[in-house]
Amino acid sequence: MEHINQVIFTQLLQTAKKAAKKAYAPYSKFNVGAALITDSGEIFSGCNVENASYGLTLCAERNAISTMIAAGHLKFSAIAICSLNTTNCYPCGACRQWINEFGSDIKIIVEDENSEAVVTSIKELLPNSFGPESLNNKTN
Ligand code: THU
Repeated sequence: MEHINQVIFTQLLQTAKKAAKKAYAPYSKFNVGAALITDSGEIFSGCNVENASYGLTLCAERNAISTMIAAGHLKFSAIAICSLNTTNCYPCGACRQWINEFGSDIKIIVEDENSEAVVTSIKELLPNSFGPESLNNKTN
């Protein structure tokens, strides 16, 4: 993807951090933001939204993806995740499954302890995944 480079990774992390400041996290006080870039180059972000019924909490990544879907997009090439509480904030298992739904090559960007962008991919973070193609695969 032509528009995916280090500058974009930094921009996505900054946007994710901005979203994290908006988190509704009165219970955990753990603020998370996520920002993704669509194949058409638009950026969408989300924060975590907690609930008094704790299990209903929505993670930042799924909030960002839902916002992208509601805006009419289906393809994104990278998603950055940022917590105000810690560095190296990788997506939880549920969010890995959600990200994988939209492509196994999607890049995952987190910020390390030196404020550098660390890039991996969803296929590294969720190997041997069950995804959309699994539903059509009759060979195994
Ligand atoms: N959280 C996220 O938003 N994304 C993740 O990938 C990990 C966890 C949120 C959920 C909850 O509001 C808080 O972080 C503590 O688990």
